[in-house]
Order: sequence, then C-alpha cells, then structure tokens
Amino acid sequence: MSEIYLFLIMFIGLTSCQSDFNHLAFVIQWPPTLCGYSGVHCKPSIDTQRFTMHGIWPGNSTGHSLECSLPPQHSEDYVKDVWEKDANRAKQLHDHWPTFLLTNTDEEFWMHEWEVHGYCTKQTLPAADYFQGAMRVAVAGKGKGLLARVRDEFLTAGIFSKYDETAYKMTDLLIPLGKVTSKKIYISCTPKDDFFAYLKDIHFCMDKTMRRFVDCPAANLDTRGCGPIYRQRKIIVPLRKDIY
Ligand SMILES: *[C@@H]1O[C@H](CO)[C@@H](O)[C@H](O)[C@H]1NC(C)=O
Repeated sequence: MSEIYLFLIMFIGLTSCQSDFNHLAFVIQWPPTLCGYSGVHCKPSIDTQRFTMHGIWPGNSTGHSLECSLPPQHSEDYVKDVWEKDANRAKQLHDHWPTFLLTNTDEEFWMHEWEVHGYCTKQTLPAADYFQGAMRVAVAGKGKGLLARVRDEFLTAGIFSKYDETAYKMTDLLIPLGKVTSKKIYISCTPKDDFFAYLKDIHFCMDKTMRRFVDCPAANLDTRGCGPIYRQRKIIVPLRKDIY
C-alpha cells in the first residue's frame, strides 16, 4: 500500500469522524399519539390532525439513529441566528415544527434536535441548512411539501375518515405512503398491547445533503414499536389526543 493511499485513508477517517453516517432520516410525527401518553401535557393549540416535523436524524447503514456528541459551548448562539435573524423562517418553523409539550418552547425543541441529531451533520449540513433543508422538504415553498402530501395520501386512502380505533395493517399505511416517495421508509409506533399499536413517527430517508430521498436501509429494527415482522401489531392512527 503506498504512503499516499495510507494518508488518504487517515485523512478521510479524520474528516468523517463527526459525520460518519449513512443517511438522514427525515422524521415526521403524529401528535395525537404523543399527546396521549399518560403524564404528557400538550399545548391546547396543537392541531392534532396533521403531521408535524420531529427532526432530522443521521442514521447508520443498519438503520440505527445516531446521537451526536455534545456541541461545544456557545454554539447555540449561532444556531439561534437561524430563526432569530429570519422572521419568515421562524414563522415556518413555528407552523411546521412546533413542540406539543405545554412546558416547552418551540425554540427549545429545535435546539434539542440540533444538539442531539443536527450537530454531527454539520460537515454536510451547517445549522442554517439543517433547518432550511427541513422546511424545503416539509413545506416545499409554493408546492406541496412532505407533511401535506402524507396527510393527503392518508385522506385519500380513508385513513382519517373515522373517529374510532380502526386498526390498519402496516401495509395499509405503506401503500399510501409509497405514493409520496417510492423509497423504503420506516414507521414507528407506540405499542398499546401485544396486538395493537399507535402510529408515532414516519421516517423518510434522504441522502446526506438532504437533496433526494433514498431507501432507508434494511434494518433489523422492524419492531420500532410496531412489532416484529412475523407478528406485526395492527396500527391505530388516533385522531384526538384524548383517545386513549
Ligand atoms: C449502527 O449503530 C448501532 C447502534 O449504535 C450499532 O450497534 C451498529 O453496529 C451500527 N451499525 C454499523 C454498520 O455501524
């Protein structure tokens, strides 16, 4: 092996130590499920009938989400600029990436997501691009963004038509979601019991620069609360936060 080759390996190893991830999971959440947790108090203002952003999480090639090491002190200061210096972006973030927790502010939620999952993407996505990219995908300027498209496909498939505990097979949800992107995605659930679970999050996977959707890697985590592949729970999409 030549020295140059060795040097390259070392160089690549060093530069990628903070961004050693395979893809970015673009995670959207279904607030009624989270607001239904006992002990969770949701803001009354939360619209419990639409998807909102949860976060953008780097993931590895076996589908695990990675947490970043703690960012250096004071890095919050420049991250805050992302919303403090751009009123339009702040409004978009409040609209589409709200916290539902009564005791938290949206800004705390955004900062938490950036510290835990955004900081280590900083070589491919500096802070501004992390949030800007999120809004580009979620809301898509004048076009229809991911959040609205998922909701529309669920509406078309009749998934929001009932105020009861209709339970769906995983495939009943994956089919409409396949019309949003044809790539492999993950669904995560909060288990109710051995047979039923509530829809929690949907993970779309994107490349490291958040420019295009990619297949989420085959993962042995198919449980994600929805049950293992050979015994999947049926999934309830609650429409009200007081449903359970
Ligand atoms: C992905 O991350 C998980 C959890 O940290 C780890 O157990 C697994 O080995 C990782 N997979 C690869 C391919 O690095």
